[in-house]
Amino acid sequence: MSDTQIQTRDETLIDPISAHPGFEETESRIAIWGHPIHAMTVAFPVALTFCTFGADALYWWTGDVFWARAGVWAAGTAFLFGLTAGASGTMELLLVPGIRARAAAWTHFVIAVLLLALLGANWGFRLQGYESAVLPYGILLSAFNVLVVGATGWHGGKLVFDYRLGTSKGS
Ligand code: HEM
Repeated sequence: MSDTQIQTRDETLIDPISAHPGFEETESRIAIWGHPIHAMTVAFPVALTFCTFGADALYWWTGDVFWARAGVWAAGTAFLFGLTAGASGTMELLLVPGIRARAAAWTHFVIAVLLLALLGANWGFRLQGYESAVLPYGILLSAFNVLVVGATGWHGGKLVFDYRLGTSKGS
């Protein structure tokens, strides 16, 4: 095989996505002294989604209305902190060329938007009567949200640990 043929074969192997000029530019821009704000904010919706399910389970077990009230607060704060985390993540996605170019980042966006819709539904449903909302639909929605927040968090971790998105290249 001649050199030209080899060169032609190599050229056909170039992935147009990874050939994009900003592909390696993946450092966080929405950050405080290099620490991504998204990573700092995601802990709150994750923890509060688990708390909502915990409060619902305790209401089911004890019948104490305190837990139904704790559930509506946990669901509301999970949603509002989720929006904050979503805003920082979306800015990162749109502003950083290497993050924007990767399909995995968009997959995370889609899962996260589904999660935010479910968190909003879980809160809105309870505002019409937080005690009657818990059994059975509130707790079922909370259990499903635990699964979806787990998938979102796991996938976000994959972006950082597998693709090194949002990490510093300096050290
Ligand atoms: C709605 C739009 C969202 C977008 C576009 C988005 C985007 C991203 C991006 C680009 C990363 C990589 C790290 C970085 O650049 O900061 C990331 C990481 C992560 N995301 Fe999101 N995200 C969104 C919402 C969420 C939500 C709602 C959650 C969970 C409640 C979440 C959980 C995570 C986690 C746990 C990480 C790993 C953080 C780390 O280990 O440092 N994301 N996300």
